Amino acid sequence: MTETTTETTETTGQPVQADIAVTGLATMGRNLARNLARHGHIVAVHNRTKARTDALIADHGNEGTFVPAASLEELVAALKRPRKVIIMVQAGAPTDEVIEHLATILEPGDIVVDGGNAHFIDSRRRESALRERGLHFVGTGISGGEEGALNGPSIMPGGTAEAYQTLGPILESIAARVDDTPCCTHVGPDGAGHFVKMVHNGIEYSDMQLIAEAYDLLRTVVGKSPEELAGVFRSWNEGDLESFLIEITAEVLATKDPRTNGPLVDVILDQAEQKGTGRWTVQIALDLGTPVSGIAEAVFARSLSGHAEQRAAARGVLAGPSEKVTIEKPDEFIEDVRRALYASKVVAYAQGFDMIRAGSEMYDWTIDLGAMAAIWRGGCIIRARFLDRIREAYAKTPDLPSLLVDPYFAKTVSEGQESWRRVVGVAASAGVPVPGFGAALAYYDGLRRDRLPAALVQGLRDLFGAHTYRRVDADGAFHLNWSEDKSEHQA
Ligand code: 6PG
Repeated sequence: MTETTTETTETTGQPVQADIAVTGLATMGRNLARNLARHGHIVAVHNRTKARTDALIADHGNEGTFVPAASLEELVAALKRPRKVIIMVQAGAPTDEVIEHLATILEPGDIVVDGGNAHFIDSRRRESALRERGLHFVGTGISGGEEGALNGPSIMPGGTAEAYQTLGPILESIAARVDDTPCCTHVGPDGAGHFVKMVHNGIEYSDMQLIAEAYDLLRTVVGKSPEELAGVFRSWNEGDLESFLIEITAEVLATKDPRTNGPLVDVILDQAEQKGTGRWTVQIALDLGTPVSGIAEAVFARSLSGHAEQRAAARGVLAGPSEKVTIEKPDEFIEDVRRALYASKVVAYAQGFDMIRAGSEMYDWTIDLGAMAAIWRGGCIIRARFLDRIREAYAKTPDLPSLLVDPYFAKTVSEGQESWRRVVGVAASAGVPVPGFGAALAYYDGLRRDRLPAALVQGLRDLFGAHTYRRVDADGAFHLNWSEDKSEHQA
C-alpha cells in the first residue's frame, strides 16, 4: 500500500494526510484522538454533532495535527491507505450504524476499529460481515477510563493478524508502557479482544467487591473511620496488594463531602450500578462452564444493593447476630483481612484466566494468557503489581491447569488460608456480608478437597431421573435399580 501525502482526496482535492481517524468524540474518543496526536500521528476527527469536533480543535488543536471532518465521507477521504478508522460511539445500534455507513465508503483492505465496550459476540458478527466485504474489523478493548485514553490505556485488539500488522504499531505507540513494553498486543482473531476486555471488567467487578468487603469489615467490626481506613489501604498499597484500585480506594475514603465535611463515602447512596460487562462475563461463563464465582457474587452484590424496597422491607424484620463481635487485637485482624483480600483476589484472577482459556479453546483463538497478564500490568483499571507474577507463572508453565497451583500462588493462598478462614468466620458472626471472600474461599476448598459431595448429587440425579453415575473403580456409566432390588446396571 502506498502511504504518501501527495495523494489527493476524491471529494475535496485536499492532500491525503491523516494516519488514522477517530469518529465519536465524547470523552473517551476525544482523549484517544489527543493521545494519538500527541504521539505524532495525524488524526482525522469526526463527531455526529460538529460542535464536539470544533471544541476538540479549539481546546486541544495545538497538541498535534488534527484533520477535522464534517462527515464520515470527509473523514474517510482524509486518510492514507489502508484507512484506519476508530469508532468510539455508544455500543449497540449506534456502533452498527456507523460501521454500516463506513462499510459503504471504505475500500478493500481498510480497517475499522471498534474501541467501545462491545459484546464479543457482536464483534464476531461484525468481523465476519466486514470480512465478506473485504474490510478488516478489529474489535478492540480499551481500558483505563478517560485518564488512560489520554495518557496511555491498556489496549486489547482482536481481528486478523494482518490488520494488526498495520494497526498494531500505532496502538502500541499510545498504550501505557511497563518495563518498556507496551500494554497492547494482538489478542487473537475476531472477537478475542472484546472477550478479554469483558473478562477484564468481570475481574474489575470482583476486585472492587473484595475491596468493599474488606472496608466494610474493618469499619463495622474493628470500628475504624474512613479516614483511618484510607491509611490502612495506603499502607497495603506498599506491598503485594499494590494496585490502582487499592490506591483510589484510599483516595475515596480520605475524601470529605464538600457539603457536610463528613466522609464522602457516607453520603454516597449505597446502590452500585452497572453498565453490563460484568453481567456479560457471568452469562458467558455459565455457557462455558467456567466457575467465575467471585465475579458472579460481585455482580449479584451490586444487584442486591440496588433492591432498595426489599432492603427496606427486610431491615426491621430480619434479625442480626445477638452478640456483638469484639476484636481483641485489631492490628492482627487487619493483617488477617489483608491476607484474605490478597488470597481472594488471586482466586478472582485465577477464575478470570480460566475463563479466557475456556473462551480461547471454544472459539479457537489461541490466546496467550501470559501476554494478557503483561498488557494488564499498566494502563487498565485492574493494573496491579501481582500481574507480573501471573505473567511469570504462565511464561514458566503455559498450560498451567490453574493459577492457584503455580508455586508462588499456591504458597500465597495456602499461607493466607488461616487468616482467610478467620475473616470469613468473623464476618459471619458479625453479620457482615462477605460474598466475595466467602465464594473465593469456597472455590479454594472446592479445588483442593480429595472428595466433593458432587458424588451425592450424582446419586440423587440417578435416583429421581435415572441420569446415571460413574464409579471410582470402574469405567462406564451406571444406574441403580432404586425402587426394586437396588441392583446396578451398566448404562
Ligand atoms: C475500563 C473500565 C471501563 C468502565 C466500566 C465500568 O476498563 O476502563 O472497565 O470500561 O469503567 O465499563 O463498568 P460498570 O459501569 O459496569 O461498572
